Amino acid sequence: MISALTPDLVENQTASAKEIEVRKASMADIPQLLELINGYAAKGIMLPRTEFEMSENMRDFMVAFDGNKLAGCGAMHFYSPTMGEVRSLAVAESHKTNGIGRLIVDSLIYEAKMYGLDAVFAFTYVPGFFARVGFHEVERGELPLKAWKDCLRCPKFHACDEIAVVRELRPHRRPQRQELPPVLGVDDGFVILLPTVLRG
Ligand SMILES: CC(C)(COP(=O)(O)OP(=O)(O)OC[C@H]1O[C@@H](n2cnc3c(N)ncnc32)[C@H](O)[C@@H]1OP(=O)(O)O)[C@@H](O)C(=O)NCCC(=O)NCCS
Repeated sequence: MISALTPDLVENQTASAKEIEVRKASMADIPQLLELINGYAAKGIMLPRTEFEMSENMRDFMVAFDGNKLAGCGAMHFYSPTMGEVRSLAVAESHKTNGIGRLIVDSLIYEAKMYGLDAVFAFTYVPGFFARVGFHEVERGELPLKAWKDCLRCPKFHACDEIAVVRELRPHRRPQRQELPPVLGVDDGFVILLPTVLRG
């Protein structure tokens, strides 16, 4: 039952090297979340978040704590009755390569299954990590149009080098590929195009 999805259900998971608690985030975690996410955003590898956005989306977030220190975080954002996005996934530099990223993704996938999603996707610069946790690369056009809304405020909108990855949760119900026009939407009379994808 979805109403039974409480922090208790996903906490007390253990990363390989240390005792790490993974649980749903709470408002008290916002300062440490902003520090972690915006630290990576300053290096151009994540989108920056504001306190307002964090509050608005706090129910999406899982956090991993090493004692009182935030070791990592990730969010599961729902886009449709069948699709969700893993976003704001980050592990502190001091805690990388200890299995914490995997723990967080596993928790988000657990939640996605509880809610009955068919598939979960992400836009990422680290497809190698996502491959290790069960995702595979797809063409961006296969993802729901709404998933592109963050692109509008991304500094790399005209030179997008993120890779789209998907993990099917119920492969027999894999969503049909959608052929989408290269238009994101119309805003204030302006046509908004999909970001320009860099091909290596
Ligand atoms: C990507 C990130 C979340 C990985 O977290 P992590 O805790 O270091 O990863 P884990 O230790 O759980 O690694 C799980 C597996 O992925 C592999 N892996 C980890 N980082 C990887 C990378 N950058 N490239 C390829 N494989 C990677 C690990 O070797 C491990 O493999 P295994 O299955 O053989 O054990 C972390 O490096 C990070 O926060 N990066 C900066 C922010 C970022 O890029 N976020 C992603 C936004 S979409």
